[in-house]
Amino acid sequence: MLGAQIGMMGAMASGKAPYDAAAFKVAAERAAFMSTVVPDVFPAGSDVGNTKAKSEIWKNQPEFQKLLGDLRDKTAALAAATKTATSLDALKPAFGAATQTCKACHDKYKAD
Ligand code: HEC
Repeated sequence: MLGAQIGMMGAMASGKAPYDAAAFKVAAERAAFMSTVVPDVFPAGSDVGNTKAKSEIWKNQPEFQKLLGDLRDKTAALAAATKTATSLDALKPAFGAATQTCKACHDKYKAD
């Protein structure tokens, strides 16, 4: 669900879909909300079975928690930015910062 929201905003940011300020705002608010749920989907012991979650997650909890915090902060900042932004260009820096947090964690803790 988080990926779908980012995907919708990304399509607008890259010009593949027309910019719709209201739809972007809803997607940003959903992404911010979903980001508060992500910490609960990685309980200890869930590094087995059909998963791309690397076991390092549970060996390196301080860093993983920090990356989760970055995700929450940057998606919240993006949602906040949609309240006042008057153009898509004004949202791009906050969108870029939010998607950087996905990459930062996936590069290290998600298997390909
Ligand atoms: C703190 C770490 C972390 C952050 C931040 C993070 N992810 Fe992930 N994500 C993971 C891990 C680990 C997996 C692999 C989970 C699994 O396979 O069980 C994953 C899997 C996914 C998947 C695949 C889900 C599936 O059903 O296979 C999507 C889509 C995704 N993330 C999107 C995002 C987006 C979009 C962001 C940023 C807005 C984000 N993630 C931020 C760690 C993170």
